[in-house]
Amino acid sequence: MQRMEQDQPAFWNGFANMASLAGHAVTIERGEGVTVFDTSGRPYLDAIASLWYSNVGHGRAELAEAATAQMARLAAYQTFEPFANPPAEALARRVADIAPVAGAKVFFTPGGGSDAVDTAGKLARAYWRAVGRPGKQVIVSRSHAYHGMNAYGTTLGGIPANTEPFGELVTRVEHVPWDDAAALEKLIGELGADRVAAFFCEPVVGAGGVYPPPEGYLEQARDICRRHEVLFVADEVITGFGRLGAWFGSGRFALDPDMITTAKGLTSGYLPLGALIVSGRVAEPFWRPGSAEVFRHGYTYSAHPAACAVGLANLDLIERERLVERVAELEPVLADTLKPLAGHELVGEVRAGTGLLAAVEIAPQARAEDPGLGPRLVTGIRERGVITRLLRGVALQVSPPFVITAAQIQQIAETFAAALDAAAGR
Ligand SMILES: Cc1ncc(COP(=O)(O)O)c(C=O)c1O
Repeated sequence: MQRMEQDQPAFWNGFANMASLAGHAVTIERGEGVTVFDTSGRPYLDAIASLWYSNVGHGRAELAEAATAQMARLAAYQTFEPFANPPAEALARRVADIAPVAGAKVFFTPGGGSDAVDTAGKLARAYWRAVGRPGKQVIVSRSHAYHGMNAYGTTLGGIPANTEPFGELVTRVEHVPWDDAAALEKLIGELGADRVAAFFCEPVVGAGGVYPPPEGYLEQARDICRRHEVLFVADEVITGFGRLGAWFGSGRFALDPDMITTAKGLTSGYLPLGALIVSGRVAEPFWRPGSAEVFRHGYTYSAHPAACAVGLANLDLIERERLVERVAELEPVLADTLKPLAGHELVGEVRAGTGLLAAVEIAPQARAEDPGLGPRLVTGIRERGVITRLLRGVALQVSPPFVITAAQIQQIAETFAAALDAAAGR
């Protein structure tokens, strides 16, 4: 084995080739609004809100103060069995009240969306057992899907590069094409509805490349699930808490889901926290007076009080500054400002029009001829002062903080154009 350099950094990045990255990390040390600064003081416009989550923007002192106040009072206490804490109880009530789900119950997860997805997968199976139909165990998800990196999320994922290295971690998982409702119905028919527990669906595909739902798709998928008694789980880890110009994508698309997985925008990332929002009908066998059912699941840091206090302060801020309404107002601005990029020879398509969520897809032929083009564009854009990233190797992500201005959206488009021009040799 080759000896590694003694002076190599110890920090191992996610999703990175450390052989080439070590020593070249972009170390971010400060943030303010839509801007983050590296250790040399260089500013970058954060066009991706970190990983789709810095919705209220960086450097909001009131969220830090909420965490400080809660930590001084009670930093952490477990919530297994009888224990709870006031911020967790208040945040659960608040989330249940804004969620487009009747009789919602809220199960908090500590690590973010991946934990919420695992919790949803386990609860879907536990629900069918609890109602006396233990044969319903298969979970269906879609191509292009990203459901996080825990065991359920990895297996449910529809991005082969993320799943293939690890094999099948969770059994009884099936996939259908992301945009084909008939394929979902056919699969359920082949398996038998009495074997299918749940269908996981991002209302707008996110990390797979930002694909808004084709006209009618979500309504059809929802209807198929209802007719075959398959739980519809909306994965709103990206789309929850305002990113689509409504509190939830489930509300915007009238999904009436059985469960909603969330994280990210719940705290705008100021502390890690996820939440599984469970409809009253799925909670019922566990909550019904006299029931002996126990959902034997939970994490040491579930419903962490400091994280929940930050969640409450974050929702206060979003409401006070009317940021969900602001996203709805900026939706056409983002779409109209990015659309002209579709005319560039290196661009295949611009996908926008659902909230502050968009992608600029690199032309398939350009990618085929030059596989290094995407990563070079990301670097070129960053060197020009804007942070983006490559989704599924094909498209550049745009998902800015909700506090972005029209002028800053213009700056994103101009910077993308300049990097594309340079890559095209202009
Ligand atoms: C739709 C979706 N589900 C789940 C996750 C996983 O969330 P986390 O990385 O917070 O565990 C993500 C993360 O991007 C996501 O986009």
